Amino acid sequence: MPSRTITLGVLASGRGSNLQAILDAIAEGRLAAKVAIVVSDRSDAQAPERARAAGIPAVTVSPRAFPTRDEYDTQIAKILGDAGAEVIVLAGYMRIVTNVLLRAFPDRVINVHPSLLPAFRGLHAQRQAIEYGVKVTGCTIHFVSEEVDSGAIILQATVPILGDDTETTLSERILEEEHRLLPQALQLYAEGRLTIQGRRVLITPNAHVLH
Ligand code: GRF
Repeated sequence: MPSRTITLGVLASGRGSNLQAILDAIAEGRLAAKVAIVVSDRSDAQAPERARAAGIPAVTVSPRAFPTRDEYDTQIAKILGDAGAEVIVLAGYMRIVTNVLLRAFPDRVINVHPSLLPAFRGLHAQRQAIEYGVKVTGCTIHFVSEEVDSGAIILQATVPILGDDTETTLSERILEEEHRLLPQALQLYAEGRLTIQGRRVLITPNAHVLH
């Protein structure tokens, strides 16, 4: 199925390995996308450095400069819009996004979460899974809705929890799946194969596979 090149805006608060997975997938021709801008809320984030190394503009906007979350997100939405971003990826973005951002990019904000949603929402999802005692967890790529970690699910992958897993070892194993799945989900978007129907995301089969 032909894909058009989608223009991404990436929000990241930390190390930026999911941003790197997107950049690598683009460079390797697995993802028909262009990253227009990377925005971070933290001055110590590594994501902006990764962006600049790939020749992509990056800015850090401190939430402390804004009296309310809405005002912060108004500024973020403006920066993303001015850069021409069409789809917004929350790649390790540790802030809860407001309706201001969601309304600016309706059904076009995508998040990666390190559990099989709806289990283990929120922070430390990997630790929550270990402590609960589940034997299988994973990661979820989903559209972002107003309620945290609750939007329509695009793709999921499972990851086993081993007896000697720590939060760190499990997080690393899940991260490998995040890096595989996130570019895949964005490529499905680029191919126009995702349709949100109520809670569900329908994925149109690839015409080439059908023949
Ligand atoms: C990932 O585990 C992601 O699922 C979570 O935060 C982490 C970000 O990692 N939301 P990175 O900054 O992309 O390396």
